[in-house]
Amino acid sequence: MSERDRAAMRDFYDDYGHREWLRLEQDLRGRVSFEVHRRFLAAVVEPGMRVLEVGAGPGRFTDELARLGARVVVTDFSPVQLELNRSRMSGTAAEQAVETRELLDVCDTSRYRDGEFDAVLAFGGPLSYAFEHAEAALAGLFRVTKPGGPILASVMSLLGSWRYFLPGVVADTERVGDDANDAVLRTGDLRHFGNAHVCRMFRSRDVAEMVRNCGAGVVAMSASNWTSLADEEALSKLEANRERWQRYLDQEVAACAEPGALDGGTHLMFAARLPQT
Ligand SMILES: C[S@@+](CC[C@H](N)C(=O)[O-])C[C@H]1O[C@@H](n2cnc3c(N)ncnc32)[C@H](O)[C@@H]1O
Repeated sequence: MSERDRAAMRDFYDDYGHREWLRLEQDLRGRVSFEVHRRFLAAVVEPGMRVLEVGAGPGRFTDELARLGARVVVTDFSPVQLELNRSRMSGTAAEQAVETRELLDVCDTSRYRDGEFDAVLAFGGPLSYAFEHAEAALAGLFRVTKPGGPILASVMSLLGSWRYFLPGVVADTERVGDDANDAVLRTGDLRHFGNAHVCRMFRSRDVAEMVRNCGAGVVAMSASNWTSLADEEALSKLEANRERWQRYLDQEVAACAEPGALDGGTHLMFAARLPQT
C-alpha cells in the first residue's frame, strides 16, 4: 500500500466523520450488525482486561468494552475519528475505562511492548484497509497481545458483499471492465474498481490461512449479517414487535456462526489466539 493510498484512506475517514457513528444505528442492517458484533465481543472479553482497540472510530465498541469492564487504549489512524471518540465518550461512564487515545496505523504497532495487552479489538475493517500488509499487521497485533489472549477483528467479506452489493458490482464492471471484476473476485482488492471507498475483502478461508501463517488458531468465526441482509420490509415487521425481535436476533446471531453462513455476510468476524507456551 503506497503512502498515497494510506493518506487517501485517512482522508476518507476524516471526511466520513460523524456518519461512522450513524452506520450502526440508522438502518436495520446496521442495527443487526451492531448486535452481532456486540455479542461476539461479549463472549470473549472479561472484566479487568487491558485492551488495545484499533480503528476505534467514534466509539461504539469503546463503550461496549467499558461495559464489559475492560480498560481501553483507544486508537485510530484518523485524527477526526479519534476526536469524535473523545467527544462521544466524554461525560459517559465509558470515559473512565479509557487509558489513552493515540493515533495509530494498524500496520505499525512497534511502539507497544511484546504481550502488553490482554486482548486486541479491530472491528469494522482496519485489517481490510491494510491491503497486502494485512498479515504483517495481524502478526503485529499478536506480538503485542499476551500469548493465549484473544484478538478479535472483523474484515469485509468478499462473497457476501458481492451478493449484497451486486447492482453496484455490475455498474462498476460496466465502467471499468470484466478484467477488473475478475481481479476483485480473485484478490478481494477493491482498488481494481477505483472507487472512493476501497478495501480488501476476504473469504473465510483467507482469514483462516492468515491466522495460521501468524502461528495462531481461529477460536471463533461469524458472519455479519445473514438473513438481515434480505427483505427489509419483512424484517421491519419483526423489529416492530419487541419480543419477536429479541427472538429473531438470537436466531440471526446463531445463524451467522454456522459454517454455511460464514461467507454470506458483508463482514466476517474472527477471534484468534496464539498458543500459550
Ligand atoms: C468502519 S470504521 C469502524 C469503527 C469501529 N471500530 C466500529 O466497528 O464501529 C473503520 C475505522 O478504522 C479506521 N482505520 C482505517 N484504516 C486504518 C488503519 N490502517 N489503521 C488504523 N485505523 C484504521 C478508520 O479511521 C475508521 O475509524
